Order: sequence, then structure tokens, then C-alpha cells
Amino acid sequence: MPTRSAQEQFDRQASHYNAQWNSWTGIALNWLLEQAECQPDDLVLDVATGTGFTALAFAPFVQSVVGIDVSTGMLEQARQQQVAQHVDNVTWQQGAAEALPFADETFSIVTCRIAPHHFQSIPQFLSEVKRVLRPHGRFLLADTCVPDEEPEVNEWQNRVEALRDPSHMRNLAPQEWQEALEAAGLHVTALCEPTSDIAMHLNDWMTKAGCTGDQAEAVRAAFAAAPAAAVRTFHIRELPTGDYAFAWQRVAAKAIKP
Ligand SMILES: C[S@@+](CC[C@H](N)C(=O)[O-])C[C@H]1O[C@@H](n2cnc3c(N)ncnc32)[C@H](O)[C@@H]1O
Repeated sequence: MPTRSAQEQFDRQASHYNAQWNSWTGIALNWLLEQAECQPDDLVLDVATGTGFTALAFAPFVQSVVGIDVSTGMLEQARQQQVAQHVDNVTWQQGAAEALPFADETFSIVTCRIAPHHFQSIPQFLSEVKRVLRPHGRFLLADTCVPDEEPEVNEWQNRVEALRDPSHMRNLAPQEWQEALEAAGLHVTALCEPTSDIAMHLNDWMTKAGCTGDQAEAVRAAFAAAPAAAVRTFHIRELPTGDYAFAWQRVAAKAIKP
């Protein structure tokens, strides 16, 4: 299956993205907001901001927020959300997580939600997060994940994700995040146990990514042949309609720059 750039994938998805991920909004954002302990003088960078869910949620509690993303289509949706919500302390910028166009020590908080699994290099991304954070700055992360020490589940889930969305790179396990954050010189102060709180239906999930024809058949076949450990981990259930119900897992972490 050929890869597709995240920019191309999300320009395609932009107009219906909000409806797709609304269910994630409350759970992940509340955890990130609680852990961030926002102050009125905080300067926030939201990496891979998409349609601005996280940037706009932080805005009322801080001085200002910059949302950065590779997809101009997603940023256009973010601007529309900003106008609809009457928020005036957020700005948007196009750019990549692996090469953040900001000076060293610019921000007191960096956030990133449901996006690192698209990044080309997690070490490069985390190195950039550390560079743009001020000393004692907080990094708040939430992303889909695979369980620790389950290589078969890990391989199956990442293969299915890449079949459905060719811009998918890899979901990491919580332990891998812990190690990557510490290796980048960020001190992990909170790491949420994975929870299966992203309930989905296969047909709907594929439609929203523009996954049709042979590509959709390949994903359906992978679900039909899912190993028992994946069925258990992701609560995969075939429905009488032939569709599948399942639930992806989420990891969330807070890390501090010394
Ligand atoms: C699933 S959306 C998440 C958007 C948002 N963070 C949220 O919580 O709703 C993933 C976003 O990551 C962006 N993205 C993917 N790779 C990127 C990269 N290397 N640098 C910046 N943005 C990227 C995509 O364009 C897309 O808007």
C-alpha cells in the first residue's frame, strides 16, 4: 500500500473532521487541561492542531495560543471554528512538527493530541518540543496507542491503520512514549493507563478517511482475520449488519522540561 502525506490526507478530510472526532473531545481534552495547570500568562503551542480542538479549548485559560499544522485545509476549518467561538487570542500557522518555526524557549506549554502517529520522526518532534519550551515548561500529549508488550496486537493495529489511512506512521505503546520522552530530555510526571474509550464502527471509520474499494476490502479482511489478542484488546465485535464495532486505546502523558 503506497504512503500518502499527512498534508494530502487531511486536506481531503478537513471538511468532515470535526464530526468524526467530537467523541474524543471531552475525555482527552479534560485530562490535558487538568494536567496543564494553565496560568493567565501561559504561551501555548498546539502542534498538529487540525481544526483547532485543543488550541481553542486552552485559549480561555492562557495568554495566547499558536496552532500549527501541515494541512491548510484543516487550518481553514480551525479559523472558522475560532470565528464561531469568538476567540481572539489564537493564531494559526502552517508548518511541520519535526521543524517548528519558532525560536528556542518561546512557549510555556506545548500540546499535541491525536497526531504523533502521523509524524515521520518522534525523536525529531520531541527534540523540537524541548527546544521551543521554556525551562520548566509543560508538554501535554494524547494519542491513540497500542498496548505494552503485545507485539502481535501492535503489528496488527498499525497495519490496519496504515491500510485505512496511508498517512499513518505508527501508534506507540505507553512504555515507548515514556522512553521516547525521557530520551528527549523531558521528565515524565504523569502517564495515563491506556483506556479503550474511542468507540467506532468500521464502515463509518473507513468512509471518513475516504477509504473505499480494494483498500476498504483489505481493511475488512484484516478485521475478519484479527488475532484473538487484538479482538480482546480492542473489543472487536462483528455486527448482524456485517459491520464491526471496536474501540481504539488512548494514551496521555505530561512531561516537563528541566
Ligand atoms: C487526527 S488530526 C488531530 C488534530 C487535532 N490535534 C485534534 O486534536 O483534533 C491530525 C493532524 O495532524 C496533522 N499532521 C500530521 N502530520 C503532521 C506533521 N508532521 N506536522 C504537523 N502537523 C501534522 C494533520 O494535518 C492533522 O490535522
